[in-house]
Parts: sequence; C-alpha cells; structure tokens
Amino acid sequence: MSFNPLKEKGIPMEKQLRNWSELNSKPFNKEEIHPYSRCRIILMCGAELEGNWFGHQYARHVDNLEIKRKLAMARRLEQQQQKVLNWLFPANEDILEMTIGYEQVAVDLTASLARKEPDPLVKDALDFALLEDFDHLYRYANLMEMTMGKKAEKITSDLTEITVGRPTILEHRHPFDEVRNHYDAKSADIITQLHAMTIVAAEQQTMNFYMNVGNRPDDSLARGLYLEIAQIEEQHVTHYESLLDPNASWAEQLVMHEYNECYLYHSCLQSEVDERLKKIWEHHLAMEIEHLHRAVELMKEVDGRDAADMLPKEMPEPVIFESNIDYVRDVIASQCDLTGRGSGYADMAELPDDHNFWKYQQAVNANGVPSEEVIKKHLDQFDQEYRQELRGPHPVEKYRAKEPVAAY
Ligand SMILES: [Fe+2]
Ligand SMILES: [Fe+2]
Ligand SMILES: [Fe+2]
Ligand SMILES: [Fe+2]
Repeated sequence: MSFNPLKEKGIPMEKQLRNWSELNSKPFNKEEIHPYSRCRIILMCGAELEGNWFGHQYARHVDNLEIKRKLAMARRLEQQQQKVLNWLFPANEDILEMTIGYEQVAVDLTASLARKEPDPLVKDALDFALLEDFDHLYRYANLMEMTMGKKAEKITSDLTEITVGRPTILEHRHPFDEVRNHYDAKSADIITQLHAMTIVAAEQQTMNFYMNVGNRPDDSLARGLYLEIAQIEEQHVTHYESLLDPNASWAEQLVMHEYNECYLYHSCLQSEVDERLKKIWEHHLAMEIEHLHRAVELMKEVDGRDAADMLPKEMPEPVIFESNIDYVRDVIASQCDLTGRGSGYADMAELPDDHNFWKYQQAVNANGVPSEEVIKKHLDQFDQEYRQELRGPHPVEKYRAKEPVAAY
C-alpha cells in the first residue's frame, strides 16, 4: 500500500507531550519477546538518540532563537519517545543479554540493508562491517556461556548464526583507513540515504551502549572484551558516517532525519508481531509525520526549498528484520580477509609491511587481546567454543579449527 508521510496527517506538536506514567513503559517479558521485536526496539532507541543529537548539533550551529526553539521542542519529544522505548527493557534482562540483542540488530539489519542497497559504495561498506558485528556476536556469546551458563541462541533463536566472522583481533585498523567517500545527496537514491542514516543511528547506539555499560561486569576479561569491541563500534560509526553527504544543509538534514524516522516506524509497523509494540509504532509514526511537516516548513523558510522536490511520492519498501543466514555466509566466504586501505578496501595479505594497519595492530594488540582470550578461556573450560552453525560447517576452512586465530 503506497504511503507518503508528506500527505498524511500527524499529531499536533503540543498534543504529543506525554506524562511520566505514560512514558514509564511496562517492560516486556524477556522469555516471550520475539528476537526481532527486541531488535526493533533497539534500532528505534538508536534512531531517537540520533534525532535528538542531530537536533543538538544543529542548535549549536545556528544563531536564530526561533529555530533553536523549534529544535528544542522536537528534541524534547524525541527524548520522550526514547524513554518509552528504552524503558521497555526489563530489569531481569542482563547487560550481556542486551548485548547479544544489540549485535543481532547489527547483523540482521546490516545484511537486510546490504541485500537491497543499490549503490555499490554503500553496499560494500555494509558488507564490510557486517562481518565484524557478526564476529562480535560470537565473542559475546562465548562470554555469556562462560559467565552466565546461558546460550546466546536463547536470545537470537535460530534466526542468526553465531560463529567466527572477520575475527575481532583483525578489525583494529588505523583511523585513516576508516574514512570512506560519501554519496551525493542530490543524485543518490532515497533508499541509499535512508540506509546510510539508519545504519549510522544503529551503530552509534551500540557504541554509546558499550561506552556506558562496558565497565559494569566484575570480571576483568569481560570488561576488556567490552572496551575492545566498543573501540570497533567507534570505527563503525566513523566508517558509516563518512558515507553521508556533508554538503546537505542543516535544514535538509533535519528533513531527512524526520523522514527516516517516519520510514523506520512505518517499517516496524509492517513487520511487528507484538500487538502492544504495534500500537507504539503506530503512535510514534503519527508523531513523526508531524515532525516531518515542521522540518519541511523550516527548510522552506531557511533554504527556500520544497521537500517535495527531494522526497519521493511514495515511501520506499520498508526495511524488515529477517533471517539472512545464507547471505552472511556468502559475504564471509568472499570478504573475511578484507581490511580498510585509504577510503577503499584491500586484502590484508596485500598490504605492505610498513602499512598503518600493521602499526596500529602492533600498538593495540601488544599485550594480549580480550576477544581472543575469551575464546581460549571458553575452550579451556568447555573443551569447545560456543557456536551456532545452523547450515553446516563454517564457510571458510581456516575458521573451522577450534583454536583461536594467531595474533599479530
Ligand atoms: Fe522520534
Ligand atoms: Fe558490534
Ligand atoms: Fe558495529
Ligand atoms: Fe522525529
């Protein structure tokens, strides 16, 4: 069914404010929630945070009280939406359980976007980082079985495989090799822009989450694993945000943020199986439609541009969380040895000995690497790693071995 948020009626801004009890959501039951419902909540927490933070950055770069007030109003509402969503997590969902959910988002969101991405620049970027979050899931899953006696598949179900991706130890790259070229917002497909904005929001959410909760475990190895992977999430935010067109005006970027929030809530609504969550997606979509209309007015005032010239008449096909097992296997088989080289990618084996990659590896991996130690320790304790390989042995021969890969 065709849907154009520019033509829909939303909830007036003043009517969007909710009271404390409305914001204090009743948590979900962690034994019953569908893995992809959890994923949608995490993703939308990320989209709300991005919406809020973008509003703060805009306000810090504009010397106009009227615009600052409009941004403050929209930000307050994005924050309320964030509370409704993040407060859905129950107290008995452990940080590590949430972490498994976060990495499942990273795997199945990234793969779903990559499969539909028309621009090779953005598709390559998605495939590249996909394998890294896939590996994080495996490292955390081993930590979980070791420290909680719980199997990660209890959270991810049989939708996502859990095994070696691009080993985390090999993901540590020099910052200069993390910056990609950007698309041109004037000519890029709308879906390309929505994909890039969505993945930035999701990776930034994960980066912030690990930055804040990574010091909560008591165990030194667990703390080490969180800080190591948190640094990769910083790399991922750098990698993905560099795809966005920095030449788009602040007002245009605001319109795109609100349009993307409409797109994501509309997508959540299409695929949600949980009736209570469906109502939240519907409510938030109605709020975002109004945010979008206000942003469109603002862009007209500030830039003299009409949003109808920039946005499609019909919202693109929704982004749906779905199982991507075969797709991820194909990408692993063909790209697990890639690393960043300038703004592009190269096989690690092709890099000259004096390349920044090796220098950075030496600097950070010099005194032991938690993502390797966690597998070693699991092997010691259980005589095997934790893996959930649902479609047969690992697609890459060298990663079928039960020993951790050699450190550089
Ligand atoms: Fe929002
Ligand atoms: Fe990750
Ligand atoms: Fe990531
Ligand atoms: Fe919004």
